[in-house]
Amino acid sequence: MGWVATFFRSSIGSKFLMALTGILLLFFVLGHMTGNLLIFQGAEALNAYAHWLHDHPKFLWTSRIVLLAIFVIHVTTAIRLKLENMAARPVSYVKGRTLKATLASRSMVFTGLLLLAYILFHLLHFTLGVVQKDATGPSGPGGEKDVYAMVVTSFGNPVYAAGYILAIALLWLHLWHGIASFFQTMGWSHPRWTPLFTFLGKALSLLIFLGYVSVPFSVLTGLLKLPAGGN
Ligand code: HEM
Repeated sequence: MGWVATFFRSSIGSKFLMALTGILLLFFVLGHMTGNLLIFQGAEALNAYAHWLHDHPKFLWTSRIVLLAIFVIHVTTAIRLKLENMAARPVSYVKGRTLKATLASRSMVFTGLLLLAYILFHLLHFTLGVVQKDATGPSGPGGEKDVYAMVVTSFGNPVYAAGYILAIALLWLHLWHGIASFFQTMGWSHPRWTPLFTFLGKALSLLIFLGYVSVPFSVLTGLLKLPAGGN
């Protein structure tokens, strides 16, 4: 087992770990977005999905624990790599490679940490319901969570909707570079295929941005609203 730990602590092993956990988190982001988009099919579809998850606690908790472990590895490895880089290069370049780096690539740790703060807030907001209590309390007939009403009421407040849109834009920036970085780390570079992969990565990050942002945007513009006579 020693060699496994040594590999994952090495620079190349750490980058591999970032790429692997990053791609797994991307799958979660895509899955969560697909679930959220059920909101456009109406309250029943979204609530049926949310209630199905809550009615399968073994599945839900296993997924949560695996997701948390992947997330912790991704974040701690990123911080370790950044600290190691800073220690190896105490005087930052004035000119040279940094000039070529894009805004997205230079800000990976920064956008990552802001996303961490957003996710903690998001859990307090929608999962635990301790923020904006008037919008997130249990409201279904049997006392169960009415996820549709919760999301629509929350984003009915433009401050919350704008905050989410900002966080989703940060996710876009993070994925814009992150997906391209994945292919680079895996060594999958080819004069013909690399530009195509880079393009597909950027298109996917844009699609994710549009998919997530469509929810607060539709509430703000009145496309999504509470059912007439609902709470
Ligand atoms: C418009 C944007 C979003 C909406 C409407 C939304 C909606 C929700 C809802 C309703 C829940 C709670 C489900 C429940 O407890 O019944 C949830 C949980 C969660 N969301 Fe989001 N979400 C959005 C964006 C994001 C983003 C951008 C991320 C991460 C990058 C994210 C990560 C999570 C995580 C990690 C959970 C906890 C899952 C769990 O309870 O096990 N969400 N989201």
